[in-house]
Amino acid sequence: MSEGMTRRQLMRHAGWFGGAVVLSVVGGEVISRIADDQDDIAAAATADPNTLRFVQVSDSHIGFTGPANTDVTASFDHALGRINALGFRPDFVMHTGDLTHLSTPGQFDQVKQMLSTTRTDRVFVVPGEHDSVGDGGKAYRGAFGANTSGDGWYSFDTHGVHFLALVNTLSLEKAGHLGPEQLDFVRRDLAGLKPDTPIVVFSHIPLFAMYPQWGWSTDDSLQVINMLRRFSSVTCLNGHVHQLFTKTEGNITFHSATTTAYPLPAPGHGPAPTPQVLPARQLQDALGIRSVTYREGDHALALKEERLT
Ligand SMILES: [Fe+2]
Ligand SMILES: [Fe+2]
Repeated sequence: MSEGMTRRQLMRHAGWFGGAVVLSVVGGEVISRIADDQDDIAAAATADPNTLRFVQVSDSHIGFTGPANTDVTASFDHALGRINALGFRPDFVMHTGDLTHLSTPGQFDQVKQMLSTTRTDRVFVVPGEHDSVGDGGKAYRGAFGANTSGDGWYSFDTHGVHFLALVNTLSLEKAGHLGPEQLDFVRRDLAGLKPDTPIVVFSHIPLFAMYPQWGWSTDDSLQVINMLRRFSSVTCLNGHVHQLFTKTEGNITFHSATTTAYPLPAPGHGPAPTPQVLPARQLQDALGIRSVTYREGDHALALKEERLT
């Protein structure tokens, strides 16, 4: 190869030689690579230390049995396989709740073990209402509550982004509620941050009113929204609704994620949000993972949705 060719130029060049070419985006730049060496691809894709990449999965409902998905474990395994085949090693993987269907110790053990197979340094979770069935989240915190505060909330920073992981699902009866103790935590947590700090907020139930009639909203979220208004870039990522949905309100963009288990109806389509039975092929189309890229200094995060087809 000619001297002086940078690694990126080489990769662009190599892409012309045929074979399976993988495209990835690094710091806003698309690079191509012959897919003959996964380690090389992963190394290239993470070569820019200023680029953050993470993956969101949601609503695996391990333990669910029903015609809407007769093997949710296989579907979740498929989703994790997709993460491991992305061609880059995510900085972290976030599961936004309903890890289990019924909060049993066996279901928590199983989902924790499965998550440990992802090729990433860190796995984060927030609980769904299905992870606190009958015990207010005690078993959930036993499995996933290390290094969290209160009922399981926490925050962390990486690549100049501040992340908040909130709990709004303490029980089926109190779903869609943050509570004063958690609101105090958020207030203190955000207090020292500069307004140009990008903020990402994870929660299971949406922080916007997606469809309150079905419990697809958080009754005291406005207090958090008000605390977030002074920041120039805020992204809220949630699960619970088992379908993609995006809404922007001023400086805040909300993105509901899909599920790895089974679809729910669109808001208001039907009497209740019950699992939808689809033909097998269509089920795969309704399931997916989300990868997110952020380059330090950029205003917004880039989201990419991938179906489990
Ligand atoms: Fe769910
Ligand atoms: Fe849920």
